[in-house]
Amino acid sequence: MLEQDIERVLFTEEALRARVGELAQQINRDLAGKEPVLISVLRGSFIFMADLVRAIELPCRVDFMAVSSYGSGTTSSGQVKITKDLSESIEGRDVLVVEDILDSGNTLSYLLKLLQARRPASIRLCTLLDKPSRRTKPIQADYVGFQVEDLFVVGYGLDYAERYRNLPYIGILKPRVYEGE
Ligand code: IMP
Ligand code: MG
Repeated sequence: MLEQDIERVLFTEEALRARVGELAQQINRDLAGKEPVLISVLRGSFIFMADLVRAIELPCRVDFMAVSSYGSGTTSSGQVKITKDLSESIEGRDVLVVEDILDSGNTLSYLLKLLQARRPASIRLCTLLDKPSRRTKPIQADYVGFQVEDLFVVGYGLDYAERYRNLPYIGILKPRVYEGE
């Protein structure tokens, strides 16, 4: 079972639900009167997006973009590739990018530049997790769920080698899982 590979639970289902609700309330206030388009960065943010959007009370749209910046390991390759683009134009729209985790910042600095060039009215960034100690690009999120230390975490959408996304909580992997990577 997946559970056996988890060293420690960092954020329980209840903690995630409560924090996602708080983020949504902030977004409801900040974007009142607007009709934002929420862009989920696949695949890691799919569960966060699903919970966040259900707590947002504004009229809004959703769209999806897929990027890959990691091999199957635990560190960024630095190479970002768009594997699925948006379905709709974002020109003149208020964009909220929804990410699972902001780590080195490679993925998002590339992505934000690309989205900015499409002339949206505004772009905000919402990340569930933030690992500021690992940042190599000057990027800050407007909304952060939780700050985490330099640990590799999985669950609630986040994977290691495509596994563990379906865990309902966020936990730290046992090092033996990725030793010998
Ligand atoms: P960045 O480009 O280094 O900021 O990496 C961002 C992406 O790396 C995230 O969207 C995740 O998909 C992945 N990532 C970074 N840290 C972790 C982690 O601890 N667990 C799972 N995925 C991670
Ligand atoms: Mg991701």
